[in-house]
Amino acid sequence: MYSKTIITTSALLAGLAAAVPAPQVPGYTGPNAPYGTTSPTPLGTLATSFGLDSAVSAVPTAPPNGTASGAAPPRRSSDVTGATSHGPYSGVPTTTGAVKANQTLMQTIPALPPNPTATYYNTNGQLTHAQPIPYTPYGGLGTNGSEPRYMVESDFDYESITLGLYQEWIELDCFNNGLATFSEQDFIDAGLTAEDRALIAFMAVQETGHATLLTNMLGETAPPQCTYNYPYSTVREFVDFNQILTRFGESGVWGFINHLDSREVGQLLAQSIATEARQQMAFRQMSGLFPMPVWFETGIPQSWAWTFLAPYISSCPQNTTRLAWQNFPALHVANQANINRFSPNDTADYVERVGNRTSDPAVSTIPDDQSCIHLNVSGVGCGPAISRNRSEPLSFPGKQIRLSWDAPGQAVGPNNSYITATSAGAPQFVAWVSQLNLTYTPLTVTGNNSGYTYQPASEVYKGDPASNDTMFIALTDSDLFFTPFNLSMINPHVAALGIFQAG
Ligand SMILES: *[C@@H]1O[C@H](CO)[C@@H](O)[C@H](O)[C@H]1NC(C)=O
Ligand SMILES: *[C@@H]1O[C@H](CO)[C@@H](O)[C@H](O)[C@H]1NC(C)=O
Ligand SMILES: *[C@@H]1O[C@H](CO)[C@@H](O)[C@H](O)[C@H]1NC(C)=O
Ligand SMILES: *[C@@H]1O[C@H](CO)[C@@H](O)[C@H](O)[C@H]1NC(C)=O
Ligand SMILES: *[C@@H]1O[C@H](CO)[C@@H](O)[C@H](O)[C@H]1NC(C)=O
Ligand SMILES: *[C@@H]1O[C@H](CO)[C@@H](O)[C@H](O)[C@H]1NC(C)=O
Ligand SMILES: *[C@@H]1O[C@H](CO)[C@@H](O)[C@H](O)[C@H]1NC(C)=O
Ligand SMILES: *[C@@H]1O[C@H](CO)[C@@H](O)[C@H](O)[C@H]1NC(C)=O
Ligand SMILES: *[C@@H]1O[C@H](CO)[C@@H](O)[C@H](O)[C@H]1NC(C)=O
Ligand SMILES: *[C@@H]1O[C@H](CO)[C@@H](O)[C@H](O)[C@H]1NC(C)=O
Ligand SMILES: *[C@@H]1O[C@H](CO)[C@@H](O)[C@H](O)[C@H]1NC(C)=O
Ligand SMILES: *[C@@H]1O[C@H](CO)[C@@H](O)[C@H](O)[C@H]1NC(C)=O
Repeated sequence: MYSKTIITTSALLAGLAAAVPAPQVPGYTGPNAPYGTTSPTPLGTLATSFGLDSAVSAVPTAPPNGTASGAAPPRRSSDVTGATSHGPYSGVPTTTGAVKANQTLMQTIPALPPNPTATYYNTNGQLTHAQPIPYTPYGGLGTNGSEPRYMVESDFDYESITLGLYQEWIELDCFNNGLATFSEQDFIDAGLTAEDRALIAFMAVQETGHATLLTNMLGETAPPQCTYNYPYSTVREFVDFNQILTRFGESGVWGFINHLDSREVGQLLAQSIATEARQQMAFRQMSGLFPMPVWFETGIPQSWAWTFLAPYISSCPQNTTRLAWQNFPALHVANQANINRFSPNDTADYVERVGNRTSDPAVSTIPDDQSCIHLNVSGVGCGPAISRNRSEPLSFPGKQIRLSWDAPGQAVGPNNSYITATSAGAPQFVAWVSQLNLTYTPLTVTGNNSGYTYQPASEVYKGDPASNDTMFIALTDSDLFFTPFNLSMINPHVAALGIFQAG
């Protein structure tokens, strides 16, 4: 409790102050710690030269390579790949539509009661079965000693991992594209240093590993890298686009990972998507957004991820494996908050997105006296930072959200060769998908393809607003109840899909 060093008057006062500490965390009473009374050591002289210093015990070594035992396998792609042409596609596709099986058994999957075996409930904390070996309780899947096989095991797995690979390829190209098309000075002007550029470059290299992993799980028909059409024209828009791109990339995987037939594939995929989640957070920080404004990251169905991704792929090489997933019509948020404004309430309808694709970033070139990018004011500034605390939120419960949506039947995706489709009836609700929750709000239709709703105040648990992140919204024809594990059953009811910038 009491400092045993020489007690000066000021240290004594500091010690007394520490004995009755001012409450730093409301409600956290009586904190006490041995370091509570130590006075900080004043900063000494800092190092100014950083040359060779001590030598430590070491041997010469290198990773095994070539055909040596233990040598790492090669990556499928180099760090920077050949897909250097970018822009829209203007040709005529040689094939159109999603991949289809010869037979489709039903239009919707009927809801069933819980699985009859879903009954385990432990009332006393004791084990209920004989254990297979010491310290190992009975149960689990893939725990009986069978050798793991890290390959897709069904059409569901194959199409999910193929979609994942399309996503890894665009990330690899996009991260490099920003580094290649903006100068170091452009990054500095956006508050990002050479070290931040090195981080983005590192993230691109991570994608070569992810693309290689997913390729190996698929085999010879794994799709190659395609050509892309990006929406951004400033560094700020580039990092904003990437926080959205990695958001639906990550959420797309959370949506299917636990439905995979191959648990081995799920294992490795989880280990790569944990990295993608870190990328998402880093791009939020580079965008001056709060790094993680939710308690749970949400999952979305594969067809949602494909809907968001496809508009940014302009063409793929001949013979690229095609996907079976649906492309929904786009849902546009007219008054999507501009993250570059210190007062997001002032965002004008439509013109503050760089384009009308649903994941397009916010326009960063607004007048300087309205922008938060270079404001060095706590609670208002939005330059790159570890964390930012916006005093005026991007959106809030009760905010009117004005929407418009496209009709189905539009050509999207690689070579404009996929067609948007919906099987839903007239839209009546807006479905808000974030964290662990699906919340519906009524849609007020104001025109043939326009309407509005209000942001819901629903919470996951008390104190955790469900809508507080880059998240997902859908127009639906009904308000059926679904939860994270069966959310894909909403698809037949989805009329249009969009991204919502909450926070
Ligand atoms: C293996 O490593 C050695 C030394 O690092 C290098 O000279 C050689 O080229 C490498 N071989 C292959 C096949 O990469
Ligand atoms: C689907 O139909 C095509 C053309 O009739 C046939 O070649 C193919 O084997 C069929 N596939 C299956 C899985 O039945
Ligand atoms: C081991 O478990 C897997 C499922 O994880 C199952 O498919 C397989 O049949 C089991 N093998 C034996 C020998 O019981
Ligand atoms: C197209 O892909 C199939 C399957 O991967 C392959 O067998 C075939 O050789 C490819 N054709 C061309 C022209 O690349
Ligand atoms: C897509 O366009 C590319 C580039 O023009 C072409 O090589 C490829 O064959 C096209 N694929 C389809 C499915 O039309
Ligand atoms: C933004 O709009 C909301 C709702 O009208 C209002 O409560 C809030 O005060 C506004 N913020 C500012 C900074 O004007
Ligand atoms: C997006 O669509 C809206 C409504 O159709 C239109 O007013 C706006 O100009 C479009 N924005 C861009 C960037 O094309
Ligand atoms: C921002 O303001 C703080 C406190 O006034 C100051 O220490 C810091 O140097 C400023 N940073 C920039 C980039 O101007
Ligand atoms: C940060 O935001 C929270 C509300 O989200 C607020 O309670 C807190 O006072 C803010 N802190 C600072 C330092 O701005
Ligand atoms: C809605 O569509 C109908 C038929 O296409 C058209 O006559 C009508 O003017 C449209 N209404 C609005 C508000 O756009
Ligand atoms: C949100 O999700 C939590 C956790 O699954 C659940 O307990 C809660 O009822 C959900 N809330 C709403 C409004 O759906
Ligand atoms: C909502 O997100 C903001 C950052 O956008 C964060 O400051 C705030 O704490 C979050 N609110 C809650 C209640 O989690």
